[in-house]
Amino acid sequence: MKQDMILILDLGSDENPRLAREIRALGVYTEIHPHDISQAELAALPNVRGIILNGGVNRVVDGAAIDSPQYIYDAPVPVLCLDHKGAAPLPAAGEARTAALKDFVFGRCQAEANWNMENFIADQVELLRRQIGDKKVLLALSGGVDSSVVAALLIKAVGRQLTCVHVNHGLLRKGEPEQVIEVFRHQMNANLIYVDAVDRFLDKLAGVAEPEQKRKIIGAEFIRVFEEEARKLDGISFLGQGTIYPDIIESGTKTVKAVKSHHNVGGLPEDLDFELVEPLKMLFKDEVRACGKALGLPDSMVYRQPFPGPGLGVRCLGAITRDRLEAVRASDAILREEFQNAGLAGKVWQYFTIVPDLKSVGVRDGKRAVEWPVILRAVNTVDAMTATVEDLPFALLQKITARITAEVPGVNRVLYDLTPKPTGTIEWE
Ligand code: XMP
Repeated sequence: MKQDMILILDLGSDENPRLAREIRALGVYTEIHPHDISQAELAALPNVRGIILNGGVNRVVDGAAIDSPQYIYDAPVPVLCLDHKGAAPLPAAGEARTAALKDFVFGRCQAEANWNMENFIADQVELLRRQIGDKKVLLALSGGVDSSVVAALLIKAVGRQLTCVHVNHGLLRKGEPEQVIEVFRHQMNANLIYVDAVDRFLDKLAGVAEPEQKRKIIGAEFIRVFEEEARKLDGISFLGQGTIYPDIIESGTKTVKAVKSHHNVGGLPEDLDFELVEPLKMLFKDEVRACGKALGLPDSMVYRQPFPGPGLGVRCLGAITRDRLEAVRASDAILREEFQNAGLAGKVWQYFTIVPDLKSVGVRDGKRAVEWPVILRAVNTVDAMTATVEDLPFALLQKITARITAEVPGVNRVLYDLTPKPTGTIEWE
């Protein structure tokens, strides 16, 4: 194993993710584990050079203070206790804090600053090979950043012992299923099952206008299709998952309550008896992208803007019809192309189009034409809780308008949504 590790044990401090990032910024790999990690799990972690026990406001659970078992204090590596047992906390911020961390990590623990993507990938490949042996792994590959990076990592580790299933639910952006097939089947020689489930999803969604109902149908149908494919395969022991560290944080730990349940954590029926493989679960999003890049994935995949699980389904407002869905897909492709040409593609956080379920009168070829409008959305945000609208050049808006009204059938108007969040949300439903 190539990397040294500082182990952070979560005794209730909600600053553990920040602490982990600070140590990684020093060039040393960190993992955060529950405060009561078992002796066997502790022994199985490679190259642990030191342990930090970090307590905080959540350390008192149901009136009693939680603590780590004695074997952790007795571990044969330096143990730093922060914020409890009378120990002095790390200085709040700035140079003093960095100096104290450096002193612990490099002085007491003698850790080496050898955390980088090449070493991370080499270590994960070794760990994955140990875990998987000659068994088979299944992965739902959406083409999103996280599942794509997991796929690339698993392909590097176990090659064709991995089977990827890409479900096309008809709500993907233009060119996405083709890119998944090109990159994974043709460039990476992956075992990829492509499932064309377009009709199936659109039939299920026909006439359904209520947004949450649409989301439920898409989510449930996705699991059903994936499950059907899984049952056709023999001898699968593992299920790959694109869980990343923020998913784990949001789903809550033993000491920190859940913010929201996450679709990557838990999910499939119990009788599909797979063991989980989650090689990215200790990475933050920017690290996942760096990992994908180091594995040779194209920038268009690695730096992809966020895209909701229900896809274009929540941008074709109300009951989805095929023609309006095509108008969303075609206008979205034009918007993305023009953002790319204008050098905005990597700059604006999220940008897309929406087609509402209403028509207005216009003029086409000298005649009255009643057609749909397309709404443009382009927002910037840090955490998606609030968002501001991108100040797009007027000439660009005019160009996009001209192209959409000329190239997308059934669309006669284009509008730009100037509403920040709040009062708007980023999506329209
Ligand atoms: P809102 O519309 O709530 O969106 O301001 C915030 C962020 O979440 C994305 N979003 C979703 N992502 N499933 C997802 O995976 C969903 O159902 C969903 N709805 C919204 C949205 O694109 C934005 O980035």
